[in-house]
Amino acid sequence: MIVQRPQVLAIIGQGYVGLPLAMAAVDAGWAVIGIDNFAAKVAQINEGSSPVEDISDKQLQTAISSGAYKATTDFSEVAQASVITICVPTPLDSKREPDLTLLRSAATGIAPYVSNETLVVSESTSYPGTLRDVIIPIINQLKREDARIVYFASAPERVNPGDVIWNQKNTPRLVGAIDEKSQIRALAFYESICDVIVGVSAPEVAEAAKLLENTFRLVNIALINEFTQLCSANGINVNEVINAASSKPYGYMPFRPGVGVGGHCIPVDPLYLAWWAKQNGGEAGIVEVADLINHEMPKYVAERALSLVNQNIETPRVLILGVAYKPGVGDVRETPVSELRNYLKAKGAEVAWHDPFVSVWEGTNPVDLGWSYDVAILATKQPGMNLEQLLERDVPLLDCTNSLGAQESVSWL
Ligand SMILES: NC(=O)c1ccc[n+]([C@@H]2O[C@H](COP(=O)([O-])OP(=O)(O)OC[C@H]3O[C@@H](n4cnc5c(N)ncnc54)[C@H](O)[C@@H]3O)[C@@H](O)[C@H]2O)c1
Repeated sequence: MIVQRPQVLAIIGQGYVGLPLAMAAVDAGWAVIGIDNFAAKVAQINEGSSPVEDISDKQLQTAISSGAYKATTDFSEVAQASVITICVPTPLDSKREPDLTLLRSAATGIAPYVSNETLVVSESTSYPGTLRDVIIPIINQLKREDARIVYFASAPERVNPGDVIWNQKNTPRLVGAIDEKSQIRALAFYESICDVIVGVSAPEVAEAAKLLENTFRLVNIALINEFTQLCSANGINVNEVINAASSKPYGYMPFRPGVGVGGHCIPVDPLYLAWWAKQNGGEAGIVEVADLINHEMPKYVAERALSLVNQNIETPRVLILGVAYKPGVGDVRETPVSELRNYLKAKGAEVAWHDPFVSVWEGTNPVDLGWSYDVAILATKQPGMNLEQLLERDVPLLDCTNSLGAQESVSWL
């Protein structure tokens, strides 16, 4: 029988959230077992090849060779852990409603191996009540009899992949536990890893706060995307307007327009809020409108780009620059560039793409910057993308990122 040891942490899910947490915990002196049900990823990690941009191969290799970290598919290893964190995806289903299948399967996977006096924390984003109504009942039902006391907390992850300033250590961490003893343990655990902990009175507060943070972004992005279309239709440069508004020292926070919203968080989490509101007889109307506006953006961008092409060209060749949902990562989940490409193709364009962080996207390969095109769309400005050579060609380029200076061939949203 495996015996629980202090300072042993098991993390379920070794992705954008779980792996950086593992490395931060190793730095803080924890022995970490990274559990993932995707065997190929586990093998890749154990070979010292990081699947996440924010963690270098070197950092991973150092953690593995020191003996402080290993990845495995074996859930029984959680029995050694005094703390287990769940960091698995919480996507939407085909009806665009919360899909907790992976979260449930993670809870089911660990339940028979949780030792007595273990702290179980969910870091996955979900609607208020997920810890109390979904995770705890599964674990309590399936745990062994000798696991008499299990502590539970919610501590939603706030990691921002590609961010060089904010990381697991220096980003304040919300912690809301199911009872006082759980809170004491959860605070102690995160205090060992993070600089600042914000304790809240219940897991539901932490879960709701995470949805508020991401809904705030979704709604403000939708606002600026709509505002951009109004400005552009009237010949006003929205970026100049945003810069002007940003001179107000209080009460305004700049958001920039773009192709839409992408990634696993901003387009997804607010729909957890909308679903949760409906379950409780309410409505999150502003979320639904914001979602609609952001989903219209790729169509708007496609039309703007095609309007820059010589109208005698029957099959315009369009080069999309950057397909990841944001700079500095190769993450293409929910990227709005998919919808952009679909609209362009539906309009009869031939579409190619280039992204130094992505090698294959939706079954297609990138082209190099020598590809000849009638219009280019800068959708995501990836570091290391050499745009100088494109600008020299003097072919129209629609900059959706507000990163190129004034030049004859460049238009902005
Ligand atoms: N990516 C972000 O920027 C970010 C930021 C904050 C919060 N979050 C939230 O964190 C959670 C995890 O997101 P992520 O981006 O790290 O996902 P990810 O896809 O990068 O990684 C999740 C990992 O979990 C594994 N997995 C899935 N189901 C499993 C199971 N049942 N058992 C074991 N392993 C399993 C997958 O194989 C994958 O490797 C989500 O709820 C997300 O909303 C993500």
